[in-house]
Amino acid sequence: VPTVAPKDRLYVALDVPTLDAARPYLEALSGEVGGFKVGLELFIAEGHAAVEAVRETGADCFLDLKLHDIPATVARAAARAAALGVRHLTVHSACGAEALSEAAKAVQGSGTSLLAVTVLTSLGAGDLQALGLRESVVQQVGRRASIAMDAGIPGLVCSAAECSMLRRDHPEAVLVVPGIRPAGTAVGDQKRVATPQEALRAGADHLVVGRPIRDAADPAAAARAIVEEIAAAVS
Ligand code: C5P
Repeated sequence: VPTVAPKDRLYVALDVPTLDAARPYLEALSGEVGGFKVGLELFIAEGHAAVEAVRETGADCFLDLKLHDIPATVARAAARAAALGVRHLTVHSACGAEALSEAAKAVQGSGTSLLAVTVLTSLGAGDLQALGLRESVVQQVGRRASIAMDAGIPGLVCSAAECSMLRRDHPEAVLVVPGIRPAGTAVGDQKRVATPQEALRAGADHLVVGRPIRDAADPAAAARAIVEEIAAAVS
């Protein structure tokens, strides 16, 4: 089993409005972390240039567009993202089995690996009830994870609270966990949060960290502290 360097388990969310705002983070962090996540904000503003800027640093680019549409549209969009050379692309599990399996086929043979978002980490039990979903968060995550894995999607985005269940039920899945809050940092709009250590001990492969690094006085120091916590948790 190849060992993953602790820093390669950390993906930093570039949740900023422009490439100019992203560049200081790319410069300060590219040697410190495994990859950068380009999400809706930066991709809508800068498009391919944002992906290119990440790829130029040599770090992985994780394109987090959470595709959620009809099967043909999701598959065709996934193929375009794969052509950009991103390492990971997210699709939303809520678009259903057919869209998920069409997306999986569309990226076959490319260097892009799909991740299915199970239930957003900003949603809690009350939010699912309001959406008319009667199952608990954990049950919904488990249900959607099985649909995604059956559809041929190799990775899952979940909160730390569901990691041990998913690790047990899908030992081969790549588990990517946002909603990470090192002790003492602000929770913001996230509901299902955990520390880096909690997430890794529960079976996470990669952590996604946004605001705790973006808003730190010294983002590189904040990233290094998280990498140290990762190293301690996996050793
Ligand atoms: O700032 P914070 O660390 O909360 O950022 C988390 C990042 O992970 C955001 O970019 C958000 O879009 C993303 N994300 C999430 N929950 C998911 C999937 C992605 O918070 N289920």
